[in-house]
Amino acid sequence: MLDQPREYNSIDVKPIAGALGAEIFGADLSKPLNDETFGEIYRAWLDHLVIFFRDQEITPAQYIEFANKFGEIHTHPLMKGLDDYPEVLEILKNEDDTYTFGNSWHTDQIFTDKPAKASMLYAKETPPYGGDTLFANMYLAYDALSDGMEAMIGGLRALNKGDNYKRRKQTGDHRSRAERYAAAKTTMKLKEKPDENRVTEAVHPVVRTHPETGRKSLYISVHTETLEGFNEDEADIIIDQLREHAMKPEFVCRFNWRPGSIALWDNRCTQHYAMGDYQGFRRRMHRLMIKGDTPV
Ligand code: OGA
Ligand code: MN
Repeated sequence: MLDQPREYNSIDVKPIAGALGAEIFGADLSKPLNDETFGEIYRAWLDHLVIFFRDQEITPAQYIEFANKFGEIHTHPLMKGLDDYPEVLEILKNEDDTYTFGNSWHTDQIFTDKPAKASMLYAKETPPYGGDTLFANMYLAYDALSDGMEAMIGGLRALNKGDNYKRRKQTGDHRSRAERYAAAKTTMKLKEKPDENRVTEAVHPVVRTHPETGRKSLYISVHTETLEGFNEDEADIIIDQLREHAMKPEFVCRFNWRPGSIALWDNRCTQHYAMGDYQGFRRRMHRLMIKGDTPV
């Protein structure tokens, strides 16, 4: 997506697909990063939207320290973290679990007032095959729209719901999230009581402008339910059309995990999808999120 390759002094940056995603070489996250190295990592992240590190061996404290360089940690209102590090969530699927967390195209926390700027996953245990994560570039999705569509959606605002089952209807799954959780076997731990300030609905622009790059991107998700000023039937047509468009394979990259792999993505301009294709195997990841701003 860059016009010209950037020069880096302290790291190597190798794209993994045409649309987005780059692997960072030469950074050991168990050691303190100097300003130049971190600056290059941050620039590569803004340029490539999702960056990957391999073979990292870091403690939860080092993981948190690295994440903190990107901003303050956004704690999850509903999910329970590690006992000693409550901000680190464990995304766990056991051999006999049937629930795959993140198994739909989405961007994290779109249903809150200030959705997470970034999310990070650190692979601890991975299945022998499957369990990849797909990422899609929402700048490209926006740029590929026709002038007519851009004009039509430019000022639209959408209601996003944490427990939106509407878009899932298309896959024949009419259940709410609570019902899906209850029916599926899952080892994921929820807090005994969700945080009191928990927000599960938020209205945001359908096209947002990235606060750091100034680029416009399409900001919709599986959580997008209705559009302000449209009736439900009309909104369904527009949202479904935009969602289908946004997931064009040319806008997507795919990451295959190994223990020690880290992915760090920008929720302001990407969507992601966790593959649920490794039934019978265990997958365990550590996740952190970084606080974001109000989308504009
Ligand atoms: C997430 C998520 C994807 C995965 O942590 O936000 O969607 O591949 N996970 O586990
Ligand atoms: Mn997610």
